[in-house]
Amino acid sequence: MKRKISDLIKKKNKKKIVCLTAYSKNIANILDNFCDIVLVGDSLGSVLYNYKSTREVSLDTMIEHSKSVNMGIKKSLMVVDMPYNTYRNSKEALKNAKKIISKTKCDAVKLEGGKKIYKIVKTLIKNKIPVMGHLGVLPQSDKILKSKGKKTLERNKILNDAKLLESAGIFSLVLECVETSLSKIVTEKINIPTIGIGSSNNCDGQILVFDDLIGLNPIDVKFLKKYANIRKEIAKAVSNYTKDVRNEKFPLKKHSY
Ligand code: KIV
Repeated sequence: MKRKISDLIKKKNKKKIVCLTAYSKNIANILDNFCDIVLVGDSLGSVLYNYKSTREVSLDTMIEHSKSVNMGIKKSLMVVDMPYNTYRNSKEALKNAKKIISKTKCDAVKLEGGKKIYKIVKTLIKNKIPVMGHLGVLPQSDKILKSKGKKTLERNKILNDAKLLESAGIFSLVLECVETSLSKIVTEKINIPTIGIGSSNNCDGQILVFDDLIGLNPIDVKFLKKYANIRKEIAKAVSNYTKDVRNEKFPLKKHSY
């Protein structure tokens, strides 16, 4: 059965929420059996396209990947990142969010930022477009990607932004690389689920970039646990194929027409 946003909110303080990113159909189809939320993250800019920042990701690229992801999803909530410069004002945001939803059939969009996007978020929600928030490290606007919430000013801003976004109507909030005690405070002070990445177990749920989790994307960051070494598995398969082709062990008669 397809998950609903209301089911997700009900999980707060009861069951941890599981989220992962996907950029294509076959991966989304596997994740769909396990995840509450599958996010088409604009992290695809660095993971797939080697861009220096997510700022280079276009709306069309997000839409094409999301169309593919949608084909693999039956149960999970599907959320799509609105890329940089596609929600600079309410009118632009509404036009682009409507385009994302109509072309990809996703359930919600995710926007980065706090007070600055408050009115924009309200406009989307007024127009029945569910929105997920994103605070802490903001890859679309932060020049340096380092953890957030150690300094008082920064802590207050994140907490106030979280409350403001909640009042605008978001259904959940990603906290990226937010200091442990601040994640706890934010999670306790708002009534919608927080989804952490590098923000400790204090959050209501967790998200990771799938390619990082399986060890396909060759990066090492403090908050990441690699659950597989898929590069090694792929190398083994390709090496065996190479040997078979060179030794004329593949294709055999049974593989031939
Ligand atoms: O773009 C992305 O994949 C994200 C997650 C890391 C939360 O925003």
